[in-house]
Amino acid sequence: MNYKLISKLSENVSPEILHKIFLFSLRFRLYKKQTKFSNLQTVVFDKSFENPIGLAAGFDKNAEVIPGLFDLGFGFLELGTVTPMPQKGNEKPRIFKIPEYEAVIQRLGFNSRGIEDFIRNLKKFEKKKKNIIGINIGKNKNSKNYFSDYGFLYDIVEQYADYITINISSPNTPGLRDLQKRENINKLLSILPPPKKPTLIKISPDVTEKELNEICEIAIDSEKINGLILTNTTITRDKLLSKPIKNSWKIEEVGGLSGPPLKALSNKIIKKVFKKTEGKIILIGVGGISSGKDAFEKISLGCNLIQLYTSLIYQGPYLIFKILTELSYLLKKNNIKTISDLVGTNLKP
Ligand SMILES: Cc1cc2nc3c(=O)[nH]c(=O)nc-3n(C[C@H](O)[C@H](O)[C@H](O)COP(=O)(O)O)c2cc1C
Repeated sequence: MNYKLISKLSENVSPEILHKIFLFSLRFRLYKKQTKFSNLQTVVFDKSFENPIGLAAGFDKNAEVIPGLFDLGFGFLELGTVTPMPQKGNEKPRIFKIPEYEAVIQRLGFNSRGIEDFIRNLKKFEKKKKNIIGINIGKNKNSKNYFSDYGFLYDIVEQYADYITINISSPNTPGLRDLQKRENINKLLSILPPPKKPTLIKISPDVTEKELNEICEIAIDSEKINGLILTNTTITRDKLLSKPIKNSWKIEEVGGLSGPPLKALSNKIIKKVFKKTEGKIILIGVGGISSGKDAFEKISLGCNLIQLYTSLIYQGPYLIFKILTELSYLLKKNNIKTISDLVGTNLKP
């Protein structure tokens, strides 16, 4: 059966139940391993990626279904956000699908089984060199010292991760996004050990111009930061969701918006950051990617790698193969040899 039809038929089923079913099917590795595309291979952080399309953080928060996710064709996975202690996150319901836009609003609030469980799961996976894994770390809601949570997790995950993402941009943990201010980022970085693994900061699309400038300066100057992930979900709504929808109350729900309505906003930030950082740092682009064209666009705006989440909910497990096929074709059509030749060219797909 067509996945879009399944998605339509399941509109009234709780998104969290659907997510559990998806994880269950991945655990049993029901999807066929996808083939390689030679023109999509790329090298970033001195590591070889089979392709530049990664799974964004939040899908596999507890490192439960790693082999099944690689089967879908992802070039890398970002696991987490993981917190030091287990925590339930916000009250349910806390995920709202907006099918008219293929978008999601959610306020999960870092539901995590905690780092102990996460590492136990991670250790079960027999990692090969080509299985590139990023680990996204966040703080516990009730933690008194924001900074020490990150320091604590960083020390633990460093040996397992190909790269580490410091998530200071989730809108669903009170006060978290204040960490995006210059003095707080500097304080955070000062407690991290000299990094042995590439380290990135994940940024909100709702940062002010001043904050964005400061973040770029820090990312260029600090030896502890190798790049930025642009972007997390947005708390803004109005201009992004303007056409009338069936359950309009959902738009008023508190939380972060993701999917196609986020794309233009995320691309705007990527464009600005690439201009300011001039290719000196690694950029991972995320927000509203649901086709090969979207992937092409984000890379041409300056991203070395890209990620997606929401489109997987709407288009299902074969989406990655579809995007890889389209992206590979678009490169050939534009006479571009490899992905790295596309980065920052500003070419239109
Ligand atoms: C249900 C859901 C849970 C998410 N959880 C996290 C998370 O734990 N950590 C994080 O950094 N981002 C999280 N995100 C944000 C995504 O990683 C991504 O930045 C955002 O959704 C934009 O990409 P997309 O439009 O492809 O979904 C979550 C997104 C969704 C939809």
